[in-house]
Amino acid sequence: MTRLIIAVDGPAAAGKGTLAKALAASLNLPYLDTGLLYRAVARQMLLKNLDPVTESGEEAARNLQPQDLLRQDLRVPEIDRAASTVATQPLVRTALLQRQRDFAAATGGVVDGRDIGTVVFPQADVKLFVTASARTRALRRHYQLHGDATLSDVALQRLIEEIEARDQKDASRAVSPLRRAEDAILLETDDLDAGAVLQKALSIVRNR
Ligand code: DC
Repeated sequence: MTRLIIAVDGPAAAGKGTLAKALAASLNLPYLDTGLLYRAVARQMLLKNLDPVTESGEEAARNLQPQDLLRQDLRVPEIDRAASTVATQPLVRTALLQRQRDFAAATGGVVDGRDIGTVVFPQADVKLFVTASARTRALRRHYQLHGDATLSDVALQRLIEEIEARDQKDASRAVSPLRRAEDAILLETDDLDAGAVLQKALSIVRNR
């Protein structure tokens, strides 16, 4: 199983991180969450008071250090938004491309993101496209951030709208938009728990 490259793409909060991590552990492969790269670039820019809408994140992308990815504060709403903007910058994407390829070149790996099967590893051994409805993803995101604290209808609706806005931004950008590769296998996770999604993915990998 060494050097196997598994691309896991899909929209925000569809369960791809959970799946990719579990797959990597089951197959004894390294795991790379590429969203963290964009998040870490966004964080560096915000720290320097650089507006991701108007300023380039290229330098931040080039200077990214491995420890920048380990921070706990990368999954806050402010960085959700800034990362989504930073990810539209072609120079940022180019600066991060080789890092992603280098990561899995020697060892293989499970790599999750938006453009892994289409751009980063078009030759991946297995490509999975993980998705779920915006409502399911909003509920999961709430649970991730706040545990099972109650969620009003209004707050749920706001979360759904935020998720749909981010999907729209990720799917409509000019460079490397979120798109299912033609040879990616679709995994719909609305009615599946994490264990069932993992079993499906493992059987896809075994039967590849
Ligand atoms: O997966 P995530 O929510 O942590 O990703 C953060 C942002 O980075 C999101 O707006 C999509 C973008 N992204 C991307 O454009 N390409 C990737 N390979 C991974 C993430």
